[in-house]
Amino acid sequence: MQLFLDTTDIDVLKDLASTGLVDGVTTNPTLIARSGRPMLKVIAEICELVEGPVSAEVAAMDLDGMMAEGKKLAAIAPNVVVKLPLTREGLIATSEFAVQGIQTNVTLCFSAAQALLAAKAGATYISPFIGRLDDYGAQGMDLISEIRAIYDNYEFDTNILAASIRHTGHVTDAALAGADCATLPPKIFADLFKHPLTDLGISQFLSDWSKAGQSIL
Ligand code: E4P
Repeated sequence: MQLFLDTTDIDVLKDLASTGLVDGVTTNPTLIARSGRPMLKVIAEICELVEGPVSAEVAAMDLDGMMAEGKKLAAIAPNVVVKLPLTREGLIATSEFAVQGIQTNVTLCFSAAQALLAAKAGATYISPFIGRLDDYGAQGMDLISEIRAIYDNYEFDTNILAASIRHTGHVTDAALAGADCATLPPKIFADLFKHPLTDLGISQFLSDWSKAGQSIL
């Protein structure tokens, strides 16, 4: 399973990418706005730090605008993935980008039927929003399982990118449900390393080791 960071914070990205465990990055208009920096610059900097896919989202809602913005974003670096909303125009743009060999991430997916259409359009990634479905009173993780079953039934090669992840349990459940990747806010990524029993075990081992009076080096 690939793990992406959902961030536009360059310092945070540098720090977590140094673990060698960050396979890619996703961004969205909210995260770009929050950075307070020009989008094209931010995406270019992220692409220099991460070799894997970097999703950059169009803001246009009409087809011509999506195509123009998508081409501009894709020209930033070879690892840019053009992120498009799951609308009728977004899926037409997805098909056109597929023909041009430009990778796409279809975002704001909330149903298996939408995911089916995105796969038929030739999307490279589909982003089901787990947390927002949970917030809405639905079972977000069920959507991952449904999409996995549909994509396997018809051998679609669109990658399932679990998005809107709220806690580490979502990451585990998405992995169990067969998501190809998940995109995580930095805090959740950092939380994946942690377990209270690991901390307890370390302090116990260190305390016993100090009593042994030994040195490995
Ligand atoms: C994914 O591509 C989105 O940027 C992100 O996961 C949205 O998460 P949110 O629901 O926490 O805003």
